[in-house]
Amino acid sequence: MKVLVNGQLLKRDEAVVDIEDRGYQFGDGIYEVIRVYEGVLYGLREHAERFFRSAAEIGIDLPFSIEDLEWKLEKLVQENGVESGGVYIQTTRGVAPRKHQYEAGLAPQTTAYTFPVKKPENEQAHGVSAITDKDLRWLRCDIKSLNLLYNVMIKQKAYETGAYEAVLIRDGIVTEGTSSNVYAVKDGVVRTHPANQLILNGITRMNILELIRKNGWKLEEKPVTEEELRQAEEIFISSTTSEVIPVVTLDGEAVGSGVPGPLTKQLQAAFQESIQQAIGISSS
Ligand code: PDD
Repeated sequence: MKVLVNGQLLKRDEAVVDIEDRGYQFGDGIYEVIRVYEGVLYGLREHAERFFRSAAEIGIDLPFSIEDLEWKLEKLVQENGVESGGVYIQTTRGVAPRKHQYEAGLAPQTTAYTFPVKKPENEQAHGVSAITDKDLRWLRCDIKSLNLLYNVMIKQKAYETGAYEAVLIRDGIVTEGTSSNVYAVKDGVVRTHPANQLILNGITRMNILELIRKNGWKLEEKPVTEEELRQAEEIFISSTTSEVIPVVTLDGEAVGSGVPGPLTKQLQAAFQESIQQAIGISSS
């Protein structure tokens, strides 16, 4: 198994992180998770662009181009013979004596590796339970930063109560999940929080919204209130590794009729089809 360290392919046990890396000490860095289907990095351009955007937002000047990054990640996937799996990539601001402030000219540290992913088929077919909790994160959730402490705390709470995800609520408004975007269906309209600083604009989210528009289903990028969430006909979540998963129980109460809803199922089918198309185009 090889890993990428600042552009070089190394054996995993040869990769070393400095104990004064600012990512390690401050979470001062950014990341992406990309899915690999049949050896193809799905949505690579979109993930690479978001990675560059996150870096720019926190003032990290990445020392490579989007094309270099894509090429290196493809090489990593090939080298490790990944057919179905994922790639994790992160860049930290660099290594320096521990002080909150930093000097210009630090060398960003970029690492990437591949990992196996099991498609959550059971969850996709039968739906999952979710809990709700307060969204007490900072106000720049649009940046895919390494600072995931609150997400970790609340995901752990969900996990310990046997739920798959926790839906976060800020001032009575549904924002997103701890590691997914959240959608509610009401009167046949799919509603999801607009892409602003309160949520991460998921790559899966963007693909889903495009599919909804293409199929002529009704869509509103408008905040959903907690009340509306509890009365939704259908709820589903999306992320790179989850794809589209129905939420059939919320805080112990059935969502709609308590089984995956028709719109969610149609969307799941459309999403699988779009993956197949993307893979076909990339490998031809
Ligand atoms: N998480 N919102 C949050 C807070 C997330 O962490 C994620 C993804 C998403 C969905 O984004 P995308 O569709 O681009 O995966 C939304 C990744 C998968 C993770 O941290 O593992």
